[in-house]
Amino acid sequence: MTNTPPQPRLGAAARPTVAVVLAAGLGTRMRSRVPKVLHELCGRPMIDYVLDAAIAASGSRPLVVYSPATDAVRSHVAERADTALQDVPRGTGDALRAALDALADDVVEVLVLSGDVPLVQADLLAALLEARALDHAAIALVSVDAIDPTGLGRVVRTEGGTVERIVEDKDATDDERQITEINAGLYAIDAAWLRRRIGALRPSAATGELYLTDLVALAREDGRLIAALDVDDDGRLTGINDRAQLARAEWDMRVEMNDRWLRAGVTMQDPSTVYLEHGVQLAEDVTLEPNVILRGRTVVGRGTRIGAGSRIIDSIIGEDCAIVASVLESSTVEDQVTVGPFSHLRPGAHVGRRSEVGNYAEIKNSRLGEHVRQHHMSYLGDAELGDDTNVGAGTITANYDGVRKHRTIIGKGVFLGVDTMLRAPVTLGDGSKTGAGAVVTRDVPAGKLALGMPARIREIPKPDDVPAGVPAGDAPAGDSGGPDSAA
Ligand code: UD1
Ligand code: CA
Repeated sequence: MTNTPPQPRLGAAARPTVAVVLAAGLGTRMRSRVPKVLHELCGRPMIDYVLDAAIAASGSRPLVVYSPATDAVRSHVAERADTALQDVPRGTGDALRAALDALADDVVEVLVLSGDVPLVQADLLAALLEARALDHAAIALVSVDAIDPTGLGRVVRTEGGTVERIVEDKDATDDERQITEINAGLYAIDAAWLRRRIGALRPSAATGELYLTDLVALAREDGRLIAALDVDDDGRLTGINDRAQLARAEWDMRVEMNDRWLRAGVTMQDPSTVYLEHGVQLAEDVTLEPNVILRGRTVVGRGTRIGAGSRIIDSIIGEDCAIVASVLESSTVEDQVTVGPFSHLRPGAHVGRRSEVGNYAEIKNSRLGEHVRQHHMSYLGDAELGDDTNVGAGTITANYDGVRKHRTIIGKGVFLGVDTMLRAPVTLGDGSKTGAGAVVTRDVPAGKLALGMPARIREIPKPDDVPAGVPAGDAPAGDSGGPDSAA
């Protein structure tokens, strides 16, 4: 036995239709440590899409069948679905049996979905339920005239055209394999009939599995009707068994998602190279250049341009920004900010309005005020910078002493000369300055100048003054990257 929790008896309230999602199979064709249905499409596990459709169509909490090998599925779906354990995955018929054992007696109809058919839409499921009701059928199923039926169950019909049975690919004769009408693995089933008959399923001679699809022949034996909802093959219903099919489904989903964003007012010069995950939000007049990846809960404000080669994860970007060839992770960028090319905003970076973060800049867990300029090759970690501060080329916060991280506090209107080293913890007051190459180890009072290594505190010279005893190279100059700097 496994150490999985006991099976719950489900809900007291009557639920006429319950969706059962099969997700206990080993998914061997994926060749993966990760259960198949947890593989992602556009950044979201495929079973999440199935649950969306299941909940919308059935109006109730679905039941997901998992097995010890797919235990990760149980915890993943726990918030949105009940779960039933299939001890050993002996086939889809056995999985449905495990579901029935966990379903309340007042359930009158079971909607069966496969966890590996993620592009299924709720309106198709609604039509399936309606088709069963119309014909008072024991089973309604979705069939597809497949362009490539390889590997799938074939729908065998009588000469009169009624559905007779389904034969699995592995069990089919050569003649039966010529049939192109396939079973999509989506069913609406009369629950009372199912409870009576599921015990009659027998293992396949070819694979030893119990096939849910054999229920079709059983229903026919009982003189019950089978309703088939035929749909055209748009590649969405043939299921995902391997990574080639996963990539194709992701492609389909991405084309559709990008189309929706284009119609919503987003410009993409080459949508085929733009990768947007499911949770991304874009405003009107956002421009996404080629080769842009936006992941997780990223939000981009109106008028912002995300330049080629950017990769942005879980970040919030304001309006009228320009982000070029940069990587942003769990960061916030306010309005009218420029980032890049080649900047890296790591978790906790917060860049204030009108700031300019430039070439080879790295920011981590730091808050930059408004109109801060950090133009060239510099690192800010665990720092706070006031408005209008200028960060010279090569400025580094030495925030880590080998044991702990320390903070650097920099006031407003501070001017950091090129190659300033700030040994944290350290505070620089408003309006202070550092000279080129200063190694700042002690606090700098507001309005003062820090020069040399280790830095000594001076008065800031008046214009045209040359500070006494300061070699020319120590002057608070150098290309510091202000808006009117030469670089
Ligand atoms: C199944 C159908 C086939 C149909 C195809 C459509 C059967 C026997 N065959 O084949 O007619 O054309 O789907 O995509 O049903 N699962 C369990 N427990 C198990 C075995 C499978 O929960 O013991 C789950 C899997 O996790 C998967 C789903 O059932 O989500 C379908 O199983 P899979 O092995 O992929 O079936 P197919 O060979 O694709
Ligand atoms: Ca499958």
